[in-house]
Amino acid sequence: KKIILSGMQPSGILTIGNYLGALKNWVTLQSEYDCLFMVVDLHALTVKQVPADLRSRCLSFSAQYLASGIDPEQSTIFLQSHVSEHAELAWVLNTMAYMGELSRMTQFKDKSQRHEENVNAGLLTYPVLMAADVLLYQANLVPVGSDQKQHLELTRDLAQRFNQRYSETFTVPEPFIPKVGARIMSLQDPTKKMSKSDENPDAYIGILETPEVIRRKIKRAVTDSGTDVRFDETRPGVSNLITIHAALSGKSVQEIEDHFAGKGYGDLKGELAELLVEGLAPIQKRYAELMGDKTGLEQILARGAERARGRARRTLSKVFRKVGLVPAQ
Ligand code: TYM
Repeated sequence: KKIILSGMQPSGILTIGNYLGALKNWVTLQSEYDCLFMVVDLHALTVKQVPADLRSRCLSFSAQYLASGIDPEQSTIFLQSHVSEHAELAWVLNTMAYMGELSRMTQFKDKSQRHEENVNAGLLTYPVLMAADVLLYQANLVPVGSDQKQHLELTRDLAQRFNQRYSETFTVPEPFIPKVGARIMSLQDPTKKMSKSDENPDAYIGILETPEVIRRKIKRAVTDSGTDVRFDETRPGVSNLITIHAALSGKSVQEIEDHFAGKGYGDLKGELAELLVEGLAPIQKRYAELMGDKTGLEQILARGAERARGRARRTLSKVFRKVGLVPAQ
């Protein structure tokens, strides 16, 4: 079986961007592949966190994975910090990553502009930790939204560099980006991606938000001048709504355009809001059940970490030996 690994940062709340760009695909992949899914809590430390909030968000994100359909019997689900090998491999890879290539990463440039008061070294080496996440498990495929493509390129470069300098060690992974939903845009500025850390909450929809809030946010979504429902790059607002519709309904853009022929933006928004409300309702119900049993949730995470650790250790021991470290007896 091919190996799949992916993760999300427990910052802000999970949005329909995360769901349609990544999580929904994870669920369909798990029966066919050997899957590992993490909550990347160490990555979240690169921005200032309130410790108690981070702690509860890690559990809440895990529950949202499970509620969305990740099956802990089929897939390995765990918290990144529970498997210390991630930080250890990241250190070795840090010594092989160049300042130049890290400082060229668009996400780093972006984040260091937005968090000017806290441009810490972790923000720069963030993609190296991500490479460690992937390479530890010899993952073949990494399902992500298109914003993570550049980080995956770096992961591939680091794997190849290591393999060349020492000997064949890491599987070189491929990104696995969905055709529809790979990039869900902000509802308030459809030229920017929908982000869970946007300061304007009208810009995103969280997967746990109530029907009233979902309907209100869709109603307020910025659309373009024009009236007909047509996918068109010069009209990013309505195009984004069509993309969300397609990712949820499974219909093609063409089918959606035909369906709304002679109708207007209001009709599209009305139907889209109901699609979201209906699509998210079962996830929300299951989420509430999972959060009602914290001990059960913690047990699932403990079992996941246990399974992951053995696999991670095997790769790390190999790496330590190849670079010349003395094995601990
Ligand atoms: P993160 O937490 O920013 O996002 C989690 C996943 O959601 C996707 N995504 C989107 N997809 C479509 N439209 C959007 N508007 C949108 N916003 C986010 C992201 O592409 C991602 O797949 N660095 C990663 C986390 C990470 C990781 C890894 C991923 C750490 N280690 C190893 C894969 C493998 C991140 O910050 O994702």
